[in-house]
Amino acid sequence: MQGKRILVAYFSRADENTGGVGYIEKGNTRILAEMAADITKGDLFEIKTVKSYPKEYRPATEVAKQEKENNERPEINGPLPDMSQYDVIFLGYPIWWSDLPMGVYTFLEKENFAGKTIIPFCTHEGSGIGNTERFIAETTKAKVLSGLEMRGKKAQTQQAEARKDMEKWVNESLGN
Ligand SMILES: Cc1cc2nc3c(=O)[nH]c(=O)nc-3n(C[C@H](O)[C@H](O)[C@H](O)COP(=O)(O)O)c2cc1C
Repeated sequence: MQGKRILVAYFSRADENTGGVGYIEKGNTRILAEMAADITKGDLFEIKTVKSYPKEYRPATEVAKQEKENNERPEINGPLPDMSQYDVIFLGYPIWWSDLPMGVYTFLEKENFAGKTIIPFCTHEGSGIGNTERFIAETTKAKVLSGLEMRGKKAQTQQAEARKDMEKWVNESLGN
């Protein structure tokens, strides 16, 4: 994977969260995404829905539940990255209702990942990565590698350890 052009694309929500972290200024997944970009020297892109989610945790989960039940594709902010510029995409997301946030599907369906490698990473509060690697593979034409999963609370409150985990996994994923 030496010389590969790397993008780190991520979705993450700040504000009130679960796992005992309370109101956070920087989302758990965003913390890992910034580490991944720093480790790989890749470009960083935030997948952000045009519509923001409620700041309180429970109402946010209700909105997300509706979106999932309706299989919505919430609009996301552009401009989107030019995928022809990248070989490898690290894709970061929180687990929402055992799935990707619907806005991540919007991103995956808008971009062309043929011939690319997607390396997923997620934060969660107990579900693990679930079937999301498969969902990404079914949604794109990318080759999808095995992902990293981490408790959001660890990413938020044990950043030195989280960074070590990220370094090890990023290097293994890139075959370094
Ligand atoms: C709408 C919503 C749904 C969630 N669903 C799950 C879930 O199904 N399983 C789980 O383990 N955690 C779930 N969580 C917890 C998040 O995955 C976890 O807090 C994650 O670290 C949040 O990352 P972020 O700060 O980058 O958005 C959910 C959180 C939200 C806001």
